[in-house]
Amino acid sequence: MSKGSTREIVVSGIRSTGILHLGNYFGAMRNYVRMQDDYNCFFFIADWHSLTTHPDTRELSESVHRVLAEYLACGLDPKKVTLYVQSDIPEIAELYLLLNMLAYKGELEKTASFKDKVRNQPDNVNAGLLTYPVLMASDILVHRAVKVPVGKDQEQHLEVARNFAHRFNHRYGLEVFPEPYAFNFGQDLLKVPSLDGAGKMSKSENQMATLYLGDDDDVIRKKVMKAKTDNGPTEPNTPMPDYIENLFLLMRLVSDNATLLHFTDAYNNASIRYGDMKKALAEDMIRFIAPIRESARELEKNKGYLHQVMKEGADKARASASATLLEVRKAMGMMYSFLP
Ligand code: ADP
Ligand code: TRP
Repeated sequence: MSKGSTREIVVSGIRSTGILHLGNYFGAMRNYVRMQDDYNCFFFIADWHSLTTHPDTRELSESVHRVLAEYLACGLDPKKVTLYVQSDIPEIAELYLLLNMLAYKGELEKTASFKDKVRNQPDNVNAGLLTYPVLMASDILVHRAVKVPVGKDQEQHLEVARNFAHRFNHRYGLEVFPEPYAFNFGQDLLKVPSLDGAGKMSKSENQMATLYLGDDDDVIRKKVMKAKTDNGPTEPNTPMPDYIENLFLLMRLVSDNATLLHFTDAYNNASIRYGDMKKALAEDMIRFIAPIRESARELEKNKGYLHQVMKEGADKARASASATLLEVRKAMGMMYSFLP
């Protein structure tokens, strides 16, 4: 892909609701790092989105710094990509207001994430939860992005964002927004399963079944060794139960081919010992996680540097966002004090 201003625009964000985990890394971050040389990338920390479920703003501030340190520790280079905090960009809130007028209560109530949240926090079904996909669409459309690297769980939100882009263009008669797509390098969107075989790894749910990029070595060993297994197949080429398939999936992410092949063969000829497999997996996990953990811890202490990255990122993101808002206002004919 050619460099310069013609590069495709990429946007993605992670909520500041805790320490990042393997799902965030392989579903989102790995793509961010791979995209930084070839695309015009905007990666941010979705602190407004966090408020829908995590209202404590003191914890939130710690989490914002932590996620930024993790972005950098995973290899994002602030000279190549724009890194910023969502709440530093008021233009996102302006677009959110305008898109809310094009969003229907019925379609928002139907999204899986809204239904989940209503189930999880029945006492706090705030309007922000309902309009979560509208804010997410604003994050994306404010830079007129086309590719959005995310995990499988975000696919439906991207469909909603496309609908809003299309609806806006159609309503106001100008192609202001391209239609954005969920993106994963060369394959389907990813869902990193949790270690207990139930659901996906996540920042705040089932913490013992989630591997965090901040976990110490012995915590990683303990979690992996506790992963659900059974007595193993008794006959060659038995189909794998889900929880065993999940272990192989995790191994594919962090282990080399020889290790993977060794245990796949052992499974297929019914001689596998899951204890050995988990030991190997734990050590490979540690090799993968430890350098990120250590680097994030160091970076987190350097508040001055983090602040500088956020400030420079906010300036660049605001320039892009305000250019879009100007096009939006023009399309809507709402330019009052702008006109001579
Ligand atoms: P969480 O759900 O853990 O709170 P976020 O909602 O902030 O994390 O998600 C940030 C990014 O990480 C999104 O692109 C999301 O799709 C991705 N992601 C989160 N969990 C997983 C997972 N288990 N597997 C793959 N991708 C995931
Ligand atoms: N909703 C996403 C999640 O929970 C986070 C997010 C907010 C996001 N705004 C975004 C992802 C814009 C991609 C693009 O994972």
